[in-house]
This record gives sequence, structure tokens and C-alpha cells, in this order.
Amino acid sequence: MCGIVGYVGTKEAAPLIWDALLRLEYRGYDSSGIAVLDGQGISTVKCKGRLSDLKARLRELPAATLGIGHTRWATHGVPSDRNAHPHRDCTGNVVLVHNGIIENHRELRERLLKRGHRIESETDTELVAHLIEEEYDGNLASTVAHVSRELEGSMAFAVIHASEPGKIVVYRDKNPLIIGLGDGENFVASDIPAILPYTRKVIVLNDGECAEVTRDGILIKDYSGRIVHREPVVLDARAEAGEKGGYEHFMLKEIFEQPEALSRAISARIRYDRVILEEEEFGLSADEVKCLDKVYLVACGTAYHAGLVGKMLIERLAGIPAEAVLASEFRYAEPIIPRNTLCILLSQSGETLDTIAAAREAKKRGARLLAITNSALSSLAREADNVLYQRAGIEIAVASTKAYTTQVVCLALISVYLGRLRGVLSPETERELCAELVSLPKKAEAALGVKDEIEKISSELFDRKDIFFIGRGVDYLTAMEGQLKLKEISYIHAEAYAAGELKHGTLALIEPGVTVVAVMNDPALSQKTASNIMEVKARGGRIIAVGSEECLLAVHLDGDDARVPVPATYPLFSPVVSMIPLQLLAYYVAKRKETDIDKPKNLAKSVTVE
Ligand code: G6P
Repeated sequence: MCGIVGYVGTKEAAPLIWDALLRLEYRGYDSSGIAVLDGQGISTVKCKGRLSDLKARLRELPAATLGIGHTRWATHGVPSDRNAHPHRDCTGNVVLVHNGIIENHRELRERLLKRGHRIESETDTELVAHLIEEEYDGNLASTVAHVSRELEGSMAFAVIHASEPGKIVVYRDKNPLIIGLGDGENFVASDIPAILPYTRKVIVLNDGECAEVTRDGILIKDYSGRIVHREPVVLDARAEAGEKGGYEHFMLKEIFEQPEALSRAISARIRYDRVILEEEEFGLSADEVKCLDKVYLVACGTAYHAGLVGKMLIERLAGIPAEAVLASEFRYAEPIIPRNTLCILLSQSGETLDTIAAAREAKKRGARLLAITNSALSSLAREADNVLYQRAGIEIAVASTKAYTTQVVCLALISVYLGRLRGVLSPETERELCAELVSLPKKAEAALGVKDEIEKISSELFDRKDIFFIGRGVDYLTAMEGQLKLKEISYIHAEAYAAGELKHGTLALIEPGVTVVAVMNDPALSQKTASNIMEVKARGGRIIAVGSEECLLAVHLDGDDARVPVPATYPLFSPVVSMIPLQLLAYYVAKRKETDIDKPKNLAKSVTVE
């Protein structure tokens, strides 16, 4: 989704901003632009398409040392040169970039048109440039702060004014914005990876704060105009900017990073055969845990699929009623939050607006908030009472892989921990579950061994119109995530069904040659799933069975079918292992189809609009 970058210093701004925008490319975008400011005024280039298209146009810009840039993911108005940011007012003196959505854009547009403004784009963003033009009083920062009061929605802005060279003004409300501190130069960005090669010292703006950024200093004011003093955070030296490291795509690299990511998520949290969570990671006392009446798991996309696994884990291992809800639905569903409710919010980026809005709703209704996220300093991490970091390392590919498996293990750790504190798990069972958790990185490593076989299977699937995924119990949840992966990057229509539901309607869709991926990891359910597989085969369907050796023995496959064994584990931990072949399946089918695997069309890595 949209990305913002700004630079003020001594270097030539445009190439530096372009380079920083490139590091936000993974977030998804359809147009881009850069504006620079020098003594002569503001010059802008922008165009539809990739940053490589913009690069050719950079030579049209003067060698200024201040500028702002943007990658746009269309919301208001089609992707086009005209709708690309930066946008300007009627005079060309005010130029800005924006992430988010201005919800009252219709009335603002009408008002501005009545007053004779020439509005050139269909965007909500441009309207803000005209509002600043109207209200400009010689001080850009105070004007931006003033104008922001008229705006409804979510927003992060970087604004420049021809009469105030040497200054970028930024404003944040419900959309992330950070300031990077350099030596004789400063940066602004919507996301940390953009500025990692230049600085590791960052200040994160809070909602309602407006800041003036010059090459020598930062002045932050809060909503009421009071000066805010905030110490910068120094990012971990290991924070990666994201390189492909010899892999053809980030997605493949991230699939292969799973054993290491899982090990980082698990190892320090299991000691002496027990799950140990630090105070800041969990925070509820043993007494509070005993009193918990309900756990909500709230998230979007892949993180929601991890949440569904979490519901099963928490109910089974800790005996607490749990419910997984899509964040975009939770907020408007008037959720009933009993007195002792824990709301677990899952978000790789920690910036998904739906999830943050759901967190606020849950908090308003009295729930305790626990975030599971991969992003330190993210909005969600700051919103929650406690944060359990996934420690997966930066994930660049839009299709989430290691973020999913590390979320599942974080939920497994929490469930075992809760189970002990509530007296549901005996020390013996906890020991066995911990040993199983510790073995997961090795089992994930072994599951990666199916790569060549999956590549071969995929070569026969790339021209399919529909592919179905089935499973029972936790395997159904793995099937759901498997079909999402395939859809996201190969654009093949895929659906997941609870295996037992096939005969209640969906079986009509199974015709000779239709491929059905069956997931089987729970020995208690494998016979039942095997019967459902036979229903598919009786209608000419072709099976790809993924699961533990023991479960796969339950099913009779023939020449056309494929068998993909993965190491056995405790069934509720199995998504961590059996998801790996499904991720590889999606990857190789997409590769065969030559789609843009890391940046699939119309999707964004971090969705900062509702
Ligand atoms: C977008 C991405 C998905 C992701 C979802 C939630 O839809 O395309 O891959 O699962 O957002 O993202 P989050 O950062 O909150 O986990």
C-alpha cells in the first residue's frame, strides 16, 4: 500500500528518495512520484506504473537537497499519471504526499470547487493541498495542523511549501509515520525499511502530532500545539533492509527462512521444559489468567488464518472459550466482551488499519489487548497492553509465509502457558508439548525437502481454472491458508472446504480432472478425510494428499494422484509443517504462470485503509 519518503540534507534528494521508495516497493503500488524544493520553487515528476518508469524522469528534476516522494496504491481514482502523488494546490506553492483516506472528501471537494479551485485529480489527497493554500498564514506547520482538524479519516502527510525552503512538514493520524535522524540530514518515511541504509535512529510520531523537519532539527507538536520532546529509538543493528540473498524471489527466500524464524520465535521462550513469557510479552498475572472468561483472536488475511488455529489451541490446551474474528467485521459487529476478556490481535506489519481499529474497539469495551506482531515500533505494538514479537525477521513478499508459521507458534506458546497457569495441562503434558515445539524448526526443515516434488506437481497445475483444498479439524484451517496462498499469487480460483462438507453441496463442482489438495495430519480424523477423498476420486477428481505418513496410509491413491509426506507432529501444531508444501505449491504454480510473485496484482503488504 502507499509509501511516503522525504529527505532534507546535503545530498541530491531525488535519487535518494527514489532509492528509498524502492525499498517500499514490496508494499504494493501502481504509480509513483517525487517533488523537490530549491530556491527556484518546487518541481515534480510522477507517473503510473513501476518505479523503473519514474527513474527515467528523474533527470527532469533540479539537483535539490530536499524532496518528498510517494508510491500510490489506488483508492480514490484509477491508477494514472494525474492521480499519482505528489499533488499540488492551484499555485504550485504547496505540494504534498499522503497515505490513508480522507473520508469527508466529497464535501471538501464541493466546497473547494465553489470557491474556484482548479482540482486536477480524482484523489482525496489533492483537496488537502488546496485547503492548505486557502489557510496558509506564512507558517506551514501551523497551517497543516489547523487544516488537519477539518479532515476525517486516516492520514499521514509530508508537505512542502515554496516559501519555506529547507523544511518538510509531516502530520500523522492513524497512519504510520517516522522521522529518521541523520548527521546534517533527516528523513521521513511511512516505514522503517525505507531509511535503514541511512540511519537507525528514529522517532515515531503519535496520532495528532505534526512535525517540522529541517536538515539540523526536528520540532514536534501535539494536537493542542504543545512542544513534544521525544528521545529517538535506536533500531537493532540486525534490522534488515531486505535482500534476496541469491533467491529468485523474496517469497522463496522467506519460505526457506522458516526453520530459522521458528527457532527464533520458540527457543528463548522454552526453558526447563516450560513456556516462559516475559512480563512485557504477556503481562497477565496467574490470578488474572485463571479468571479469563473469553479470548478473542482478531486479524486479517493470513493472520486471521493463524488466529483460527489459535482458537483451537486455546480451547484445547487452556480450556478457555475462544473466538477468531476478521478485524474488518469485529469492529462493526458490536462484539460482546465479557468482563475478563483477552483480545489477541495478530498482524505481521502491525499497521493494518482494520486490526488497529478493532483493537481500539476491544479496548473501549474493556478487553485486555495482546498484540502478536513482527514489527517493533508498529502502531499495533504501541496500542496493545503487551506484545509478543514473532521474531520472524522482515517479510517482504506480499504473500505471507514465515509470518504465518511464527504466528502459529506464538499462539501455541501462549496456549501452553495459559494451560499450565489454569491447571489444565499436567507438567508431563507441558513437557511433551514443549519438546514438540522445540522440534518444529527441524521438522519445518525436513518439510522443505519436498521442494523438487512440488515443483514437478506444479508444472501440471498452472493452467487449471479451479483448485480445491480440503481438510478436517485443524487441517481444514491449513487448507484455508493454502488456498489463499495459491489465489494470492497465481490468480487461480481456489476454495477451501471442510472435507465433511463436500457432500453437502460442493461435490457437484468435482468433475473429471479437477484437482483437490487434501491435508491430513490428525490421526483421529484421517479415516474420515480418506472417505471424503474417495468421494472426490469416484467423480474423477485428482488428489494431492499432504500430511503425515501415518495419516496418508489411510488413503488409497493411484497413478494420477500425488502423495506429499511431511513430518508428524502434535496435530494442532501441524499447520507449521504442512503449510510449507502448500506455500511451495503456490510459489511454483505462480512461477510457471510468470506472475509477479512478490508483488501480486491489486494486493498490498500492509493495508493502511479500511
Ligand atoms: C494484506 C496482505 C496479506 C496479509 C493481511 C494482514 O491483506 O496482502 O498478506 O495477511 O494484509 O496483514 P498483517 O500485516 O496485519 O498481518
